[in-house]
Amino acid sequence: MAKLVSSWYNDVKIFPENYIFPLESRPGNITVPLASSIPVIDLSEANRTNTIQKILKAGEEFGFFQVINHGVSENSVNKAMKVFKEFFKMQAEDKESLYSEDNSKICRVYTSTASYATEEFHRWRDNLRHQCHPLEQYQIFWPEKPIRYQEYVRECSIEVKQLASRILELISEGLGIRSGYFDGELSESLLLSVNHYPPCPEPSLTWGASKHCDPGLITILIQDEIYGLQVLKNGEWIGVKPIANAFVVNVGYQLQIISNGKLKSVLHQVVANSSHARTSAAFFLQPLEDGIVEPAKALTHASNPPIYKSFKYKEFLSYYLSKNGDPEVALEPFKAT
Ligand code: OGA
Ligand code: NI
Repeated sequence: MAKLVSSWYNDVKIFPENYIFPLESRPGNITVPLASSIPVIDLSEANRTNTIQKILKAGEEFGFFQVINHGVSENSVNKAMKVFKEFFKMQAEDKESLYSEDNSKICRVYTSTASYATEEFHRWRDNLRHQCHPLEQYQIFWPEKPIRYQEYVRECSIEVKQLASRILELISEGLGIRSGYFDGELSESLLLSVNHYPPCPEPSLTWGASKHCDPGLITILIQDEIYGLQVLKNGEWIGVKPIANAFVVNVGYQLQIISNGKLKSVLHQVVANSSHARTSAAFFLQPLEDGIVEPAKALTHASNPPIYKSFKYKEFLSYYLSKNGDPEVALEPFKAT
C-alpha cells in the first residue's frame, strides 16, 4: 500500500489501528478555544518602535504572533497554496516517487515523522519539503509537477525570505543587538515544509502533528482557512485562528538561544479535521549548517550569563533529528553547564 495518507485515505473503510494513539496521548477533545489573545501585528503601521515592541512582547509571552499587511502579495500566496494543494491531489505514483526518509535529500516527500517503519503510531499528515535558498542551487530539485509548481513557489519563497529578514531585523533592534546580526550564515537557509492533513474520520484519536517546537530561527507559516494549529499557553492549548492573508510567525529554538531565553520557542501541535483537508506551508528560516549559534554577546553580562553554549547549527540539527524533535530533550546538550 502507498504510504502517503493522501494516497489512500479515500479508500479506507476502517480507521487504521496504527494511527490510533494510546488514550493518554490522544488529542481527545479537539475543540479547544480559538485564541483571540495571540497578537495580530499590522506590519504596515508607521510607528516602527511600536511594531517592534509588539513583536518582542508576543515573542516573550506567546512565542507566536500573526502578521497582516506584511508585504507578501496575496496573489503569490494564493498561487503557491494552489500548487501545494494540487501536489497532494496528484496520482500516488507522482508523489511516492519523491518519497524519502533521508534528511539530507534536498527535496523529498514523507508521511508522519519520517521514521515510518520504526514509529509506533503514525500521524495523519503528509509532508513535502525542500530547500528554497539560494534558488539557483535548489530549484532544479523541486517537484516538476504540478506544471506551475516551480514558478509559483519561486515567487512566493522570494517574498517570504524578504519578510523573514525584515522581521528578524525588527527583532534584533528590539533585543538591542546590532543591526544585521542575523544576516549571513545565521539566516541563509530557507526550508519549505508543506504539510497536508487529509480529512480524517477520527481526529480525536490521532495527530496531525504531535507537540513540538521548530528547530530554526523563525517560522513563517501560511495556514489555509481550515483550523488545526494549537499553541501551549500557561499549560492550556489554544487554537490559532485562521485569518485571511495573515502569516503565523513563531520563534524557533535558535532564536530562543540567541536571545538568551528572552524570546520563547513554544510548543505547538496540529489536529486533523473531520471534514476538510488542511494544507499549511511552513518556511523555516535557519542558520547554515556551519553557522555558529550562541546567546548574543550584546545581551549577556555578569548578571545575565549565557544560559546556552556556542555550537554549530548542524550539531543541533543532528541531535534534534536523532530525537525526532522530542521537546523534552531537544535543548539539553546545548545548555550552559
Ligand atoms: C510545522 C508546524 C503547523 C501547521 O510545520 O512545524 O508546526 O499548522 N506546522 O501545520
Ligand atoms: Ni512547527
